[in-house]
Amino acid sequence: MRILLLTHAFNSLTQRLGAELQRRGHEISIEFDIADGVAEEAVALFKPQLIVAPYLRRAIPESIWQRHVCFVVHPGIVGDRGPSALDWAILNGEQEWGVTVLQAEAAMDAGPVWASATFPLRAAKKASIYRHEVTQAAATAVLQAVERFAAGDFAPTPLAAFGATHGRLRPLMQQADRAIDWQRDDTATVLRKINAADGFPGVADTLFGTACHIFDAWPESLLPLADGHPGDLVARRETAVLRKTIDGAVWIGHARRAGDFKLPMTLAFAAESSALPETALDGWWRADGQTWQDIAYEESGGVGFLHFEFYNGAMSTTQCERLRAALAWARQRPVRVLALLGGADFWSNGIHLNVIEAASLGDGSPADESWNNINAMNDLALELIANDGQITIAALAGNTGAGGCFLARAADLVWVRDGVLQNPHYKNMGNLYGSEYWTYLLPRRVGDDGARDIMRNRQPLTAQRAVEIGFSDACLAGETQAFRIDVARRAAEIAAAPDLAERLAAKRARRAADEAAKPLAAYRAEELAHMRRNFYGFDPSYHVARHHFVRKSLASWTPRHLARHRDLGWTVPQ
Ligand code: COA
Repeated sequence: MRILLLTHAFNSLTQRLGAELQRRGHEISIEFDIADGVAEEAVALFKPQLIVAPYLRRAIPESIWQRHVCFVVHPGIVGDRGPSALDWAILNGEQEWGVTVLQAEAAMDAGPVWASATFPLRAAKKASIYRHEVTQAAATAVLQAVERFAAGDFAPTPLAAFGATHGRLRPLMQQADRAIDWQRDDTATVLRKINAADGFPGVADTLFGTACHIFDAWPESLLPLADGHPGDLVARRETAVLRKTIDGAVWIGHARRAGDFKLPMTLAFAAESSALPETALDGWWRADGQTWQDIAYEESGGVGFLHFEFYNGAMSTTQCERLRAALAWARQRPVRVLALLGGADFWSNGIHLNVIEAASLGDGSPADESWNNINAMNDLALELIANDGQITIAALAGNTGAGGCFLARAADLVWVRDGVLQNPHYKNMGNLYGSEYWTYLLPRRVGDDGARDIMRNRQPLTAQRAVEIGFSDACLAGETQAFRIDVARRAAEIAAAPDLAERLAAKRARRAADEAAKPLAAYRAEELAHMRRNFYGFDPSYHVARHHFVRKSLASWTPRHLARHRDLGWTVPQ
């Protein structure tokens, strides 16, 4: 079928649904929901047999749903309606939640139901639930709804026929509903409120006497917290600050000041937070107990596991430097296999565009910060490529984008959780050339033509597709816990295998041969020559694109590589 995805943005859910539908042979084109007229034009050009709306912020125009079947993906259980579905579910502590695929009609989210799926609701950030459970349930429900539609004899169930379900119409959640009362709310309530608003819109609060929105909260139960009152800011660690609650404390990782964009706490409030006492963790070992630890190392079964939980997978200069130090330390451990686990939601999304943009707020230089950041990423990638004493594994439990994909590829093996998407290309960010040794790492996996196609087509790669084309090495279990177990088991098998020494010798020989053919320093110098032009040259595209990305400017057109119906010469297949 020809299926048009009408969506507010090409977000991870839209990417996943597009990829799943394409894999089943459907022809997909994408249009951003910018204005009624634009959507109508897309429908006229593409002549879709079905329209799927994975992520909309407003209603589909009547002119479209009157004439075409439109599936709306609602992140709520059957009967739930309204724009804050997940927010209410998390805030109210629901045990089970779901996704419903409805047919668009006049009343929002009230059309007949084509399919639905449910899941146990984890205590986690809204964005995390969206990227894991909601995305998985949406993929299941949309594929079922599309099959039912294709069969031609399925009658969707009117909402009323479900009788008294648990779901109901809920209003847009207001900041008053989210407000934290630091004198009354216990730690669990504070966490639930911040989780329900993460990554958008955050909870309106006041820090250091300044109004802001807060994000990214983690519980603390290791530190002695005898002094101070609920609401007091009592400590800092790396990028986060610690705030007392009535029964403990929470780390707050990110804040957005009025009129600004989201930043790590210690950058959003640099001077103020530097006055707080620092409570650094000792070394890289995973702390025993609940605390906030962005880089954590553990060992089992002869394997080292390195976690790096960086918010949104963005890696600033300092974070790259610290991770490199951890990697260098882990390299000295008496283990012959090292698995890099990244974070739960993202493995890495490359250089930290928000921190770079923040340089423009003071008297710093975003070009200089970009340069520092890419060099720190390169140093990190080099640390991994140059590791000649361990078999390294990048285990991708979460999505990975741009330079993060090549940082992963710098490991010997890349294992991907089924359902994870990789976007191994840079051009979307103002035609950025990219570095992280991609010109070395990519062609040797997929060939020169393959590398050119990946960079030019700018499409997300599913885990299966990445393995098919040789970019990744294995697609493992889709469920997160099963993936972790699978990674640990396979890594331990490599560590215990009788051919480990041979394997390491072969790795060293290959690296030496590659280095003799063309040194890594040459790849780096060539890539950085392009990057220097991107950062300091006459063409400001990268700086403009970063400005809009960080500030979340609304799109004013759909990129041509997504809106295939707008290709010159595209015709409706007969
Ligand atoms: N720096 C800072 N923030 C980043 C980031 C980066 N490199 N990559 C992603 N983010 C943030 C987004 O702004 C968003 O923030 P929010 O919490 O305020 O909503 C959040 O991470 C999630 O990103 P989103 O785009 O919603 O996730 P997605 O899964 O739908 O898409 C990508 C993933 C990778 C396709 C997309 O985020 C992207 O294009 N990122 C930029 C990658 C890049 O160009 N890096 C620099 C070159 S190395």
